[in-house]
Amino acid sequence: MDNISWSQVDLIREVFHYQSRFEGSTMVFKIDYPVTEDAGFPALVKDLALLAKTGFKVVIVPGVRENIDAVLKQHEIDTNGYVTGDSLINDMPVRITTSQTISYVEMAAFNVASKFMTFLSGSRVDAIIGNFVRARGLGVINGIDTEHTGAVDKIYADSLTRVLNLGMIPILPCIGWSPSGKPYNVSSDEIALAVSEVLGAVKLFIICAQDGQETKTLNIPETLEKRANGSLVRLTPQQAQAFISANSEPKQGEDEEIRRQYMRRFRLAFEASKAGVHRVHIVDGREGGSVLKELYSNLGVGTMIYTDEYDSVRGLHSRDLPDILRLMEPLMQRGVLIRRNPEQIQEKKGDFSVLEIDGSIRACGALHDFGEAQGEIAAVATDPMYTDLGLGRRIVGYLIEKARKSKMRRVFVLTTQSQDWFESLGFREASVDSLPEQKRKVYDRSRKSKVFALDI
Ligand SMILES: CC(C)(COP(=O)(O)OP(=O)(O)OC[C@H]1O[C@@H](n2cnc3c(N)ncnc32)[C@H](O)[C@@H]1OP(=O)(O)O)[C@@H](O)C(=O)NCCC(=O)NCCS
Repeated sequence: MDNISWSQVDLIREVFHYQSRFEGSTMVFKIDYPVTEDAGFPALVKDLALLAKTGFKVVIVPGVRENIDAVLKQHEIDTNGYVTGDSLINDMPVRITTSQTISYVEMAAFNVASKFMTFLSGSRVDAIIGNFVRARGLGVINGIDTEHTGAVDKIYADSLTRVLNLGMIPILPCIGWSPSGKPYNVSSDEIALAVSEVLGAVKLFIICAQDGQETKTLNIPETLEKRANGSLVRLTPQQAQAFISANSEPKQGEDEEIRRQYMRRFRLAFEASKAGVHRVHIVDGREGGSVLKELYSNLGVGTMIYTDEYDSVRGLHSRDLPDILRLMEPLMQRGVLIRRNPEQIQEKKGDFSVLEIDGSIRACGALHDFGEAQGEIAAVATDPMYTDLGLGRRIVGYLIEKARKSKMRRVFVLTTQSQDWFESLGFREASVDSLPEQKRKVYDRSRKSKVFALDI
């Protein structure tokens, strides 16, 4: 353990933080079929097994669409067409499942479910493929009898909870049964949504084979944060809804199927957040460790649709002291920030503000009142893992607002290395003489800090 680095220690902290926060809570994993065919699938299942072993309640809902296509093709059975309009959560046509095709659909569904079983067995986790879905037929739509095509009528939550409490992983194939035992083909998206809702899941993961390139032809509102590969970082349900509406119509020159599949996941995510799931994560299951990366890093690798407060700027509490010292210590050691000990920070606690992301402090800053309607912005620091995300700008913006509310007319900063940054925020170089008298008296000339000020 001698050569463990600080970033590794940070990661260990992050893991413990999440572990204590989510232990014992339910996470539902809807996994699209193409992911199960990827070379990285065994590693993905291993990660899910690990989560179950460490105390999370894991539910798996495998997607089967492409496998049903393959099985029907293999047996030279014609798809009996599709109907549209009755699916709650997507605009995808619903496959009509007849008495002739239902046994092939069951075969395809259970094949995929048993693939999960195989790899979970490899990780020595108890799993069960179960009949947890009561279904009802869609009936006759537009004059067409949809026979064995069904919708979720009820999830047997008690049975699922019993299984989960035993530490087992339930796997829910896309089949539901009527009270008399008639099988129906039910959309796995619908099952994932219903299960997440009845179990009060803290998270729904939609694991798919998409890498962000799909967004190239989509209408993406300017306000949405994107990664270099084009994938969206996070959206509120309102933003998700606007994004869905902006992309509901096919566009010329695009691959319509890709758009539909992409938007289908957003619809599921949006419906799940409306149903009370605070965090829905859409991740590329082909990327090694993507679920763990999404879970154990505040910034994640996928797209998150979130309903609870994700980040906020607020005043410093005493319990935050170790966290802000962790942020400031390396900068104090390098002489970028002047040294403050815990007592000094505690004494000026009311001056400090912190920016918290998902329960962890990632940036801090202080506003000290020096009279003469002037305030000093000091101790601004951003966690090195979180720089260039606008956190520094937000914390300074917050401190400026605080100064305005306190009727200050000018804020200033003494800086040795960040003058360009403060200039980019509108600050301009000023003379030491322009500082309020109280500050001039303690100004340390040997540090040769430059004064930058902003009239507010
Ligand atoms: C300065 C600091 C607070 C910026 O934090 P941040 O959260 O990365 O800032 P933002 O994301 O709001 O802004 C990042 C932008 O500023 C630029 N920037 C960051 N530090 C800079 C510096 N010292 N000089 C000039 N530009 C800088 C980045 O390149 C980035 O530019 P871009 O938007 O064009 O990509 C952070 O780098 C830090 O903690 N520095 C050490 C402590 C310090 O100097 N504090 C100020 C004295 S009180």
